[in-house]
Amino acid sequence: MSHQLLKGKRGIIFGALDESSIAWKVAKRSFEEGAVFTLTNEPIAMRMGEINKLADECNTKVIPADATNMDDLSKLFDESMETLGGKIDFVLHSIGMSPNVRKKRDYTDLNYDFLTKTLDVSAISFHKVMQTAYQKDAMNEWGSITGLTYIAAQRTFPSYSDMAEAKATLESIARSFGYHYGKARKVRVNTISQSPTWTTAGSGVDGFDAFFKYADTLSPLGNASADSCADYCLFLFSDLSRMVTMQNLYNDGGFSSVGVSDEIMKMLSENKE
Ligand code: NAI
Repeated sequence: MSHQLLKGKRGIIFGALDESSIAWKVAKRSFEEGAVFTLTNEPIAMRMGEINKLADECNTKVIPADATNMDDLSKLFDESMETLGGKIDFVLHSIGMSPNVRKKRDYTDLNYDFLTKTLDVSAISFHKVMQTAYQKDAMNEWGSITGLTYIAAQRTFPSYSDMAEAKATLESIARSFGYHYGKARKVRVNTISQSPTWTTAGSGVDGFDAFFKYADTLSPLGNASADSCADYCLFLFSDLSRMVTMQNLYNDGGFSSVGVSDEIMKMLSENKE
């Protein structure tokens, strides 16, 4: 149901790859809520073609940009402001990639060139996006910038590998840039820590099925879906969250506050017998 929560707002949405992408759902919901926005992804993702379908459905265009490339980001902000007719009100950073995870390198046998790439793509790109926007004065006051993260930043999930380092850095960048952007321009910066979700990036993690089931069994509300994550993003983009900044916010069905659930206790007791 639409409340036109984002009517009059202009945005940039990074990271829609296919229909399962969290950014895809955010784009669909933002459109329903009255926002205008551009879509962006790295040029290689463009070739898969699906994002153009989303652009048609949202009556917008795709501007290719590698989020680690400052020239690409500069063009992206310039072209977005021109296309949308003014400064930007919201940005979604929904980007993650680890060559170490992709190539199944064990955490105790990381390739450091890969690690550098993981950090650049999955974390430093968040700083690059914000620095580009900041230096161009491309955001409206009370604008909102949101990144997506995972609880492996706080707790160890062995197969998440070096993405844990990336997420810890991402969350730290949200706090640090959130301070500077808040002081200078009243722009808000937050991260949403999302439940395991069946997407291309998510299911690339070794043993994702078990990961998903474990979180679902531990969380009193069950795992949060990509659709619910999109709703939370919309709230953060909207004026309803004007005083929320520099926060890491859990959209996880309660997972982060639970020690153990009855179901898991039962499973472990049964296994013992
Ligand atoms: P996804 O695979 O649909 O999205 C990842 C996106 O990153 C893709 O669109 C990909 O093209 C883009 N990307 C990769 N390198 C890039 C670059 N250099 N420049 C620009 N874009 C680039 O997967 P998903 O799950 O929707 O991921 C979105 C975000 O949500 C990521 O930050 C991910 O870590 C986070 N997240 C995902 C969870 C999950 O279980 N799926 C759980 C918690 C957080």
